[in-house]
Amino acid sequence: MSKRLSLTRLRRMKADGEPIVALTAYDYSFARAVDAAGIDLVLVGDSLGMVVQGHAGTMPVTVAEMAYHTRCVARGLSRAYLMVDLPFLSDYDERSALESAAVLIKEGGADMVKVEATAEQAPIVAALSRAGVPVCAHFGLRPQRVGQLGGYRVQGRGDEGAAQLCEDARALQAAGADMLLVECVSAKAARAVQAQCQTPLIGIGAGSDCDGQILVLQDMLGITPGQPPSFSHDFMADAGTIPGALSAYAEAVRARRFPGPEHGFD
Ligand code: KIV
Repeated sequence: MSKRLSLTRLRRMKADGEPIVALTAYDYSFARAVDAAGIDLVLVGDSLGMVVQGHAGTMPVTVAEMAYHTRCVARGLSRAYLMVDLPFLSDYDERSALESAAVLIKEGGADMVKVEATAEQAPIVAALSRAGVPVCAHFGLRPQRVGQLGGYRVQGRGDEGAAQLCEDARALQAAGADMLLVECVSAKAARAVQAQCQTPLIGIGAGSDCDGQILVLQDMLGITPGQPPSFSHDFMADAGTIPGALSAYAEAVRARRFPGPEHGFD
């Protein structure tokens, strides 16, 4: 019988105030290591465009490439819940989102798909949800939109910015999002979103008040090419081994020691 975590279990963790520990992975060996460290949720992120393929951003990544990496990761997991990104332009309308999700779930073995969305993309989330696809909506900083956003900038600053993020969260939940992921926003805005969130809220660069935390694997192992984001932490530098770094990250999130104030934004 499968011992894989379910969405119901992740919802219960939110209800019980038990932090959800999440991390990206892109291949079988790291999926096994991440799973063995007790990570609850694994994301096959389209960040693989940068950290695996060497592109400058996530835009070149295709559904076929996501499906390939998802299959590799799925084979390595015995416990963690598996989420996968719909890559750039694979979800530009309801039909394309459904077709892409079908590939990633049926051929890849994903439990859930993640879409980058604001209130404007709520109809896409609704279409996936109506079709029975578990869906996470990723808002705040959306890496697929950095061209339009003018780079990797902190979102949700000031009262107006926070109100906009709360509006996005409301619309995405109303459309049927089963989970929300908020990236690179002011800690104050993330707190406001968390206060009105009925679904699990995973944060990255969003302060410590979310239901769970996620990082990019290469960032927390200190092997990101170039400058890692300021909201990450190199757990390998302290732990010295990959299993040690993964366990240290899981422990730090569960004990609410990570992220600290130095990893957040005002
Ligand atoms: O693609 C990715 O790795 C992500 C994380 C930054 C959450 O979306």
